[in-house]
Amino acid sequence: MTVLGIETSCDETAAAIVHGRPPGPATILANIVASQIPDHAPFGGVVPEIAARRHLDLVEGVVARALSDAQTPIANIAAIAVTAGPGLIAGVTVGLLFAKGLAQATGKPLIALNHLEAHALTVRLTHAVPYPFLLLLVSGGHCQIVRVDGLGVYTRLGTTLDDAAGEAFDKTAKLLGLGFPGGPAIERAAQTGDPSRFVFPRPLADSHSLDFSFSGLKTNIRRLIESLPSFDEQTRRDIAAGAQAAIRDVLVRQTSRAMGQERERLGPKPHLVVAGGVAANAPIRDGLTRAAVSRGYECVIPPARLCTDNAAMVAWAGLERLRDGQISGLDVSPRARWPLDARYAHLKAAKS
Ligand code: KG4
Ligand code: ZN
Repeated sequence: MTVLGIETSCDETAAAIVHGRPPGPATILANIVASQIPDHAPFGGVVPEIAARRHLDLVEGVVARALSDAQTPIANIAAIAVTAGPGLIAGVTVGLLFAKGLAQATGKPLIALNHLEAHALTVRLTHAVPYPFLLLLVSGGHCQIVRVDGLGVYTRLGTTLDDAAGEAFDKTAKLLGLGFPGGPAIERAAQTGDPSRFVFPRPLADSHSLDFSFSGLKTNIRRLIESLPSFDEQTRRDIAAGAQAAIRDVLVRQTSRAMGQERERLGPKPHLVVAGGVAANAPIRDGLTRAAVSRGYECVIPPARLCTDNAAMVAWAGLERLRDGQISGLDVSPRARWPLDARYAHLKAAKS
């Protein structure tokens, strides 16, 4: 089966062609990501209106390039998979409308997908990880621990009470004047920083909860910067290193708790999967891998380019749903919020 994937939910306009079948692994025949970073950088964050206009400019060309890179005529595509949410609603709408038009023009089935599910299932595309597995999903908009029992069977065990981990990276970078996107900039600066010079709180240490809280970090950093008599380059790197260590420690601690709690349910060979843009961070990958190994888990993390937003993950999730016969109607609506765990669908405040 060969599926075209389209992704426009944030600031990457992406299209990919993936060939294979569940449980994977699969072959990525093309994976085009047109980043809008230069468009948003002057504003220090993604501007939804600009993102939607850029998706509109780029989506057709990106899809055409994916098809030509893969040397796959559209006639050979089994289905068109597209992110239908959660995300910036105008951007999601651009991708979904384009996919609907293509599906109608070609007669191919449309598969409207949850972006978080696409992140979650990437490890099946890369490593054929079997169900069930424990997932830490850490991106710019989401930070949650989920038990994945099968396609579409998700139990959320913990989530952020305020900011997502990627958001904490982005806000820290903004305070430090390190530019956008924050995660890679903080990781680079931290390489030559001393994480022990400034030690930031690691919230929720005493509770048994599997939730996260990151909003205190930016307040701490803002106060610290205001209190410093001078702010030199080394101080900037040391704060970056301290912030990254705090985020890493909280992720490792809460995920370790979850690994302990879920050990029995996951069978004799449990897997910890890490997905989302923050999983591109080397010290975080390293910390989680060590924690997993020490608890008898195998830790599987996709390569960095498949952790940040891309359409190969969308095409793969489409393949899984196609194999299951789950096709969408052409009347499917875009969704700004769309929790993976259906038990939370009624909560208006929750982003995911
Ligand atoms: O998954 P993603 O590309 O988009 C969302 O669905 O949100 O994640 C983007 C987030 C941003 O907050 C970005 O700063 C963070 O992932 N990120 C990183 C790194 N690369 C991207 N965070 C820490 N270290 C990185 N190397
Ligand atoms: Zn994402």
